Amino acid sequence: MHRPLPEHVARRYNSPEGQLESMISEGHVHLGYWDASNPSSSYAAAAHKLTEIMIAKTHIQADQRFCDLGCGVGAPAMALAQAKQCYVDGITISSFQQASATARAQAQGMQGRTSFIADNVLTMPFDDNTYDGGWFFESIFHMGHREALHAAHRVLKPGAALLIADLTALPTITPEFTLFAKDQMYSAFIAKEAYPELLAETGFELLDITNISSHVMPFLVPKIKDTIDTYKAEILKHLDKQVIEETVMTFQYMADNLEYVLVSARKL
Ligand SMILES: C[S@@+](CC[C@H](N)C(=O)[O-])C[C@H]1O[C@@H](n2cnc3c(N)ncnc32)[C@H](O)[C@@H]1O
Repeated sequence: MHRPLPEHVARRYNSPEGQLESMISEGHVHLGYWDASNPSSSYAAAAHKLTEIMIAKTHIQADQRFCDLGCGVGAPAMALAQAKQCYVDGITISSFQQASATARAQAQGMQGRTSFIADNVLTMPFDDNTYDGGWFFESIFHMGHREALHAAHRVLKPGAALLIADLTALPTITPEFTLFAKDQMYSAFIAKEAYPELLAETGFELLDITNISSHVMPFLVPKIKDTIDTYKAEILKHLDKQVIEETVMTFQYMADNLEYVLVSARKL
């Protein structure tokens, strides 16, 4: 399986498209979660809800240290630090995102609890056995799963919990989509069935895999269309119409080929 190049991923999140994405998702640069309690939620509100679900799955205690591996513009890290009163170090490959996360933390008075660096998770400058918990929140498919898990294993303390929100390949994934994911999304998706062996090989105990696809994937196209309508004037200042059409097409393609899982593991 190919491994996305970090410079391609950085370029994607530094681009006008990547910058706009963080604006319309109100800082939660991941997909949304919809259920009976929020069927009419906007994309951004549902993305925030998925952050809340991830936070509820962490076991981090007050004043412990947490690493956010692929942290976007910092909104999930700040929500976690606020909810759990822990310290969060975030790392993103994008210099735009690091600057944006740092500015957000300052604006919210969170700079004492959160810090953000622009670097590659696979070679991150954090010490061994440092963190009491960590997550890959919709980021591991940009890194190469095995290499990313080895990197997380190094910086986590023994016994620390790792959470992974991942898009995984449906059994019916097409070769055309796999190629599109490589060339246009700078991503390599694995099947959820690969997780038990992969985690065992990289020194983790698998605790749980929850498939939340039905709360995410069917909503993608209608919700992204609503969001585009809401922000159309702003979006058209930065991107042309074709990029908007391609975004809707990409969401449809993802819904047809991917599922969404939340994985809980523990460093052995
Ligand atoms: C879909 S965004 C998710 C951002 C954030 N976790 C969130 O939920 O808002 C993917 C993130 O992974 C980061 N990323 C991808 N590859 C990376 C790498 N090799 N090292 C550091 N960050 C990486 C990107 O910079 C981006 O912040």
